Amino acid sequence: MKVTLSLLSVLAYFGQTATAGDPGQAAWHLDNLYPLATERLDPVVSPNGVASHLHRIVGGSAFGANYNYDQYNGASCSTAAVQADKSNYWMPQLFWRENGTYVPLKAGTRFYYFLHRNKPDEAVKPFPPGLRMLVGNLNAKSYAETGLPTGALNFICLKNHFSTPNGDTAGPDFNFDIDCPQGLVTTVRFPTCWDGVNLYKSDGSHMKYTDNLQFGVCPLSHPVRIPGIMLEYTWQTYAYRPGVPLRNKLIWANGDTTGYALHSDFVNGWDTDILNQALNDPDCLSGDMTMTACPTLAMYMNLGTAQNCQPQRGVLESYQDFQPIGALPGCNLPWSSGPKPACNPSVPNPAIPNNLKGTDGSLTYSGPPYTNTTTSPPNTWTRQGCIGGATSLANSFQYADAAMTQAKCQSTCGEWGMQYSGLMSGQYCVCGSDVDPGAFRYADSNCNSPCAGDSTKTCGGNGKLELFRNPSATVVNHPGVSDPQYIGCRRTGGSGNALTAASINYDSMTIEWCKNYCTAQKQTLAAISFGRTCTCGNAWANGGGTPYPQNQCNTPCKGNTQQICGGPQITLSTFNLTLPKGGPSGSPSASASSVSTRISASASSGPSGAVTVTKTVTVTAACSNPAGRRRNHRDMKIFGDA
Ligand SMILES: *[C@@H]1O[C@H](CO)[C@@H](O)[C@H](O)[C@H]1NC(C)=O
Ligand SMILES: *[C@@H]1O[C@H](CO)[C@@H](O)[C@H](O)[C@H]1NC(C)=O
Ligand SMILES: *[C@@H]1O[C@H](CO)[C@@H](O)[C@H](O)[C@H]1NC(C)=O
Repeated sequence: MKVTLSLLSVLAYFGQTATAGDPGQAAWHLDNLYPLATERLDPVVSPNGVASHLHRIVGGSAFGANYNYDQYNGASCSTAAVQADKSNYWMPQLFWRENGTYVPLKAGTRFYYFLHRNKPDEAVKPFPPGLRMLVGNLNAKSYAETGLPTGALNFICLKNHFSTPNGDTAGPDFNFDIDCPQGLVTTVRFPTCWDGVNLYKSDGSHMKYTDNLQFGVCPLSHPVRIPGIMLEYTWQTYAYRPGVPLRNKLIWANGDTTGYALHSDFVNGWDTDILNQALNDPDCLSGDMTMTACPTLAMYMNLGTAQNCQPQRGVLESYQDFQPIGALPGCNLPWSSGPKPACNPSVPNPAIPNNLKGTDGSLTYSGPPYTNTTTSPPNTWTRQGCIGGATSLANSFQYADAAMTQAKCQSTCGEWGMQYSGLMSGQYCVCGSDVDPGAFRYADSNCNSPCAGDSTKTCGGNGKLELFRNPSATVVNHPGVSDPQYIGCRRTGGSGNALTAASINYDSMTIEWCKNYCTAQKQTLAAISFGRTCTCGNAWANGGGTPYPQNQCNTPCKGNTQQICGGPQITLSTFNLTLPKGGPSGSPSASASSVSTRISASASSGPSGAVTVTKTVTVTAACSNPAGRRRNHRDMKIFGDA
């Protein structure tokens, strides 16, 4: 009897449902994959050598100790019913261990391809020619040690699947305390996001899972969405020992008795043109379906060829299902914890015949790019998509504007030399110099908050950034300000002043006056706000000094209405006094320097930088009061009139 899980019940294990008619929710399954070989070969991990343990291999007939894409794509047949797929798929062989004998179990094999998309209008891409993947850790003794996300490996005990598909039992490993009357299912889910460059990395870094295993969206570092393979072997435990509980009876070919050594390999041998055609064929993308229901693939379906397909290069060795042997092939003693047991004497390996050897070809992709790198005209902001929150941008700062628009945010980020501009929750703007390569991309529908200042456009979503990029925006350029010591319109501190060494109010405040005052205080940074408040320090404090849009510094200086001295509320005009000064207009006059000397002398007497210089200067203890940050224009008037 052939046992298969229905797609719906498999999806139910993961709280996912396939929606008919939505191409972004489609899934294919292929139920007819026949065994090709059971031997100690692994062209991915042990090219041209003997693999450390026995594998159960399905797929293309060109399998060997090593091969390249031309060879395996050119295989004469495949044990997968769709003959356009000459890929190889494998898992370790599973054995029943009882009374000192090891019995290789027979398995029915099938797979799913989950076809979730990064974006509704972006089709899943075919596997690149030559792609290889390895999932799992053959030394793992716990799920955590596999390093895989939850759900990547699964063990399911089938009880009476056809009449009660939801009555099956999922386990953390293969040691079920019950028998499995319709078999033990082991599944491996492969990552679906490729970096677009590397066809294989032994540390697996060329591939990544989405933020939701095989269903979410790919990180920006691995943008190419390929089909999400779920390889499923249903081991016929019931055929060898009906009624016997599985606990302590199963062992993987590498000696593992916990089950966590489950791992799987994939080598892409697809005719990628045919696969691409199917991935773009609306008739192949309506919910969950067998590959036979996809007209593009049905043309290549041939069950007879699949059943009769044999390894065309011969085999290294041959093991028969259900034929007991006295020990696991290779050095693979039973192993449940700690380091792998050694073999004494050591076990000799068979020699690899030349016809099984080969070369793997380049492991770097060199075909046409899978993703379009958008080349935008200079100095324009191009939409990049909807990505994870504010932490997705490097060297970032953010601010809110109750009338936020996309253009306002872009202009601010440009002003501060930041090439990334992200909008969030309708009214936040986040600027950054770079995107975290691990940041996740989300469907555009997640960026659905209308801009607070222009409801015809969207400004990100809840915790999601609507990202724009302008590669030309790398030079800081504050519009309308020529003072070379000016370092921008910035925010005051959250719980106190942004500069804390000295502070003074002066109703004849000018930029020069504040700079001279701070120089006299031996401070390198000067900040002016409310048209009349000058603060000094050597470093930003209280979370202040973060960038703000230049147009939020708009309050004329009390002593020179042609100059800007910060804003009416939370913004500061800031100056770095270690930078070279500009021309004659910025030079201090003799009287200015004498003012600074005078202030300096009296300032030293104040306990916390509070000074009284003349009648027009007010002691400014209130500026370092936490409540000071909430002063609005009206408070300032009262304060200033005091
Ligand atoms: C193993 O030995 C036990 C005890 O002799 C016996 O009951 C059992 O049937 C044996 N198992 C197999 C597979 O022969
Ligand atoms: C890249 O962009 C061009 C022009 O817009 C388009 O014709 C082509 O299909 C795109 N390629 C991919 C892989 O998206
Ligand atoms: C001020 O300018 C100096 C260079 O003269 C620079 O090293 C320093 O980081 C600047 N400080 C701030 C807060 O911008």
